[in-house]
Amino acid sequence: MSGLLVAGAGSVATLAGGLRRGAAQADAAALDGGDLAVACWGGRVLAVGPAADVYRQIVAAGHSPAEFEHVDADGGLITPGLIDAHTHLIFAGTREQEWQMRAHGAGYLEVLAAGGGILSTVAATRDASDERLLSAARGRLDEMLACGTTTAEAKSGYGLDVAAELRLLRIIGQLEAEGPMRLVPTYLGAHAVPEQYRGRPDGTDEFVAEVVDRQLPQVAAQGIAEFCDVFCERGVFSANQTARILAAATSLGMRTRIHADELAPSGGAELAAGSGCLSADHLAAPSDAGVAALARAAASPNPVVATLLPATSWFLGKHHFAPARRFIDAGIPVALATDLNPGTSPTVSLPLVMSIACVEMGLSPAEALVAVTVNAAHSLGLGSEIGSIEPGRQADLVVWNVPTFEQLPYWLGTRPARTVIVGGRVVAGRA
Ligand code: NIG
Ligand code: FE
Repeated sequence: MSGLLVAGAGSVATLAGGLRRGAAQADAAALDGGDLAVACWGGRVLAVGPAADVYRQIVAAGHSPAEFEHVDADGGLITPGLIDAHTHLIFAGTREQEWQMRAHGAGYLEVLAAGGGILSTVAATRDASDERLLSAARGRLDEMLACGTTTAEAKSGYGLDVAAELRLLRIIGQLEAEGPMRLVPTYLGAHAVPEQYRGRPDGTDEFVAEVVDRQLPQVAAQGIAEFCDVFCERGVFSANQTARILAAATSLGMRTRIHADELAPSGGAELAAGSGCLSADHLAAPSDAGVAALARAAASPNPVVATLLPATSWFLGKHHFAPARRFIDAGIPVALATDLNPGTSPTVSLPLVMSIACVEMGLSPAEALVAVTVNAAHSLGLGSEIGSIEPGRQADLVVWNVPTFEQLPYWLGTRPARTVIVGGRVVAGRA
């Protein structure tokens, strides 16, 4: 039996219809009216709609409802599995002291410049055994699944030297093989300038050369990263340095996404738009030219998704959020992600991120749902596989304990997933 039938749903937000921008960002393609069902066969969606129609389509496809395992949605909402398109999943240690230093006025980049911040997590991660990193990440993945996430991008970036970065990518590969969460591995070698390059006049350029000439070729040769990412920020890696890394990654066949304009306008949005990135992330402080460049890209055949990380802005305590409404009005497709990491966003919960996006950035619940499903899928280049409930798509679904998608971000800080399904199989919650 490889069929699964989820029936008795009060509403289904299908998110069918592809990447959303502008007014369409608010279109969850929801079916309402009760007694709705989703049938899955062989790990793919077979049919969705009113139960009677779905039964007819099951029979028309040559199956019998008796071949299907049944899941009762109990009047709840069904959505596609949520997609977290920006996480720093693999790390050791915590940074609550730094968080408190910030609360007393220290700046994020000041802490980094003093050898703390990202560099303290690099030290803790290098010291941790594979087993420790694996078991910590497994715990986080379990929590993510329980919050409704079925696909997550996962970055390296707390290794910085080639052996340590390759180890982190191997660990991501092992977790992906274990399942059930689908993981998309990203190489983030240029996350910070390592200790031994600091204090040299051309230290950052020398490290960029090491990333381009030594690290990227090995990462590409091993085929263990889909994406290359860079922390493009004033005082970390400049737009020119980032451009060098992106060009090398692209020539090696990798896709690209960047941390752009998180704290100050750094030319990141312009660079992402001009260099074929699938996603520009953070964007809390883009320049006008950067917004214009993303808007032009959005109207082209190669739109760059603006992946916004409001939990980070919130946890940094600066009350300075990405101008999401401006992006939507400019026709730029918006996604949301957790940015899960021990420094600036210690959360695994996309429903919480949706809540923050609604409260602090003025997104509607529909816009936020689009941002963690179909648009997030496109930011990972997976828009034809996941992110919507349409016949032929992977059967990654969440049945929620709430009846409508408006209630998902409304119940602050709860874990409202009732049943989580990956590839047509129940992997968390009630069967
Ligand atoms: O996306 N800004 C750079 N990287 C992460 C933070 C990583 C850290 O502080 O450990 C981010 O916020
Ligand atoms: Fe990040």
